[in-house]
Amino acid sequence: MKIFLLGYMGSGKSTLAKALSIQKKLPFIDLDHYIEQKEGQSVTEIFKKKGEIYFRKQEITYLNELLNSEKSFILALGGGTPCYGTNMQNILKASKNVFYLKYQPQTLAERLEFQKQNRPLIAHLGNEELLDFVRKHLFDRNPYYSQATHIITMDNLSEEQALETILSLISD
Ligand code: S3P
Repeated sequence: MKIFLLGYMGSGKSTLAKALSIQKKLPFIDLDHYIEQKEGQSVTEIFKKKGEIYFRKQEITYLNELLNSEKSFILALGGGTPCYGTNMQNILKASKNVFYLKYQPQTLAERLEFQKQNRPLIAHLGNEELLDFVRKHLFDRNPYYSQATHIITMDNLSEEQALETILSLISD
């Protein structure tokens, strides 16, 4: 079984995927970490030294490697993963268990204020610009994110509630 968590930066994909992996007794993979291991450098370094287009190409390659494997896993995608190439189509072909962790832009901007530094797309933004950036970016990405088989409205859910909700929706 392959389970996918997608959503904007700061939406807690990795944290929830880890908790799910314990409950479902399935390995947890964070796509950003997978890329970092394969490339031998951090996402920030890849963006800085090779640029975003290179990062997106590698992201597509490593996602396909995971999609084409026989392995079961819970995969936390990068925030942009569903929005490039045919990634979202390929993810939906591979699984019915595709969850979008949806937050209001305001909540995301607040969550991201303290975790910008390792995220090259927003690291340079001041907190005032952040909300506007997130609003526009989410608007652009919504057509991809909203194709997920399940949309979990996260703003008023605790981590436990989100976990229970996802567990109740997972199908074999
Ligand atoms: C990105 C999100 C990041 C990482 C890269 C680009 C994006 O992942 O893949 O910095 O385009 O939204 P997280 O969502 O895990 O921060």
